[in-house]
Amino acid sequence: MRIAMFDVKDYDRESFEKYNHQNDIEISYFDTKLSMNTVSLTKGFDGVCIFVNDIVNKEVVDALYQNDIKFILLRCAGYNNVDVKACYGKIHVYRVPAYSPYAVAEHAMALLLTSIRRIHKAYNRTRDFNFNISGFTGFDLHGKTVGVVGTGKIGRIFIDICNGFGMKVLAFDKFPNDSVKAEYVSLEELYKRSDIISFHCPLTEETMHMFNKDTLKLVKKGVTIVNTSRGALIDSVALLEGLKDRIIGAACLDVYEEENDIFFNDFSGHIVDDDVLARLISLPNVLMTSHQAFLTKDALDNIAETTIQNALVYRNKTSNENELCYHCPNIENCRKKRKGSCF
Ligand code: NAI
Repeated sequence: MRIAMFDVKDYDRESFEKYNHQNDIEISYFDTKLSMNTVSLTKGFDGVCIFVNDIVNKEVVDALYQNDIKFILLRCAGYNNVDVKACYGKIHVYRVPAYSPYAVAEHAMALLLTSIRRIHKAYNRTRDFNFNISGFTGFDLHGKTVGVVGTGKIGRIFIDICNGFGMKVLAFDKFPNDSVKAEYVSLEELYKRSDIISFHCPLTEETMHMFNKDTLKLVKKGVTIVNTSRGALIDSVALLEGLKDRIIGAACLDVYEEENDIFFNDFSGHIVDDDVLARLISLPNVLMTSHQAFLTKDALDNIAETTIQNALVYRNKTSNENELCYHCPNIENCRKKRKGSCF
């Protein structure tokens, strides 16, 4: 079984290499992303393994199918970059639904704490032997209200962490869960009451730009926004306006809606053409990481193990819960109704 792995970084290679040449699996690594420009590289392979910024739209699906690609292994949880409906009846699609929800939830809290306590700025000052603490006044998390949008695996762990800090937790989810230790409210109420808003729901047509110029009219002045989910949940232009107008007190971002051609690459010697991104990064109250919330050794090991298992599920013609549903917009809800693949 020959697998072409795209958008490969050194850490991917390290975690996957122990499975290479085992169980008749041959992995070839490509640094480039999968897109219409690179799809010709997939000729002669049985499957492809992709990450968050590879683009598998309908055109690419058709080209993959023509190249006799039989399965797509997403080595991530989100699948908004794949036209799953177009894959139906042609190419099986598997994902890694949970590799370490702790990694992402802990990163969200790390961003929040770093931002509100100015740790990143203090680090730079003390390294320069500047021990002045002016401008570093933060606020206690204890007693503050946090609004968590999306109470799935990651959102729930983030809620537990926030409860540990003594915060009041509000939650919004399309499918609320009784076991979640938070007060479920409408999205509008969450926006109105929260001191901190953290996004943990998937990017869908429904959630695209769920934070926008209209929601800026609802939020508390000085609200802190945390996004470790998908960039396009937030309208970046509205976010920038909210920051410039001093409505938003701080933004902690691990994702950005136009990150595809930028994140994971070194642009330190170049001029970045995205003016919104450049302006966001220039603001003192914006803390940005480059889609690294998942990046722990534990998560990478789990990703590699589950991805290889998914490949074996395809080869053994069995089914598992990691194969996507090709019809339903909400995969978790769909799983409650049926078992196995709907391919
Ligand atoms: P999950 O599937 O366990 O939970 C998602 C939750 O969102 C579910 O409870 C679902 O009911 C809810 N939801 C779906 N549609 C909604 C809507 N319209 N409004 C409100 N809630 C809605 O997913 P998990 O594992 O918690 O991951 C959440 C997101 O985190 C992923 O979709 C992915 O985009 C992102 N992620 C980011 C990573 C990073 O490195 N920055 C790594 C892994 C995931």
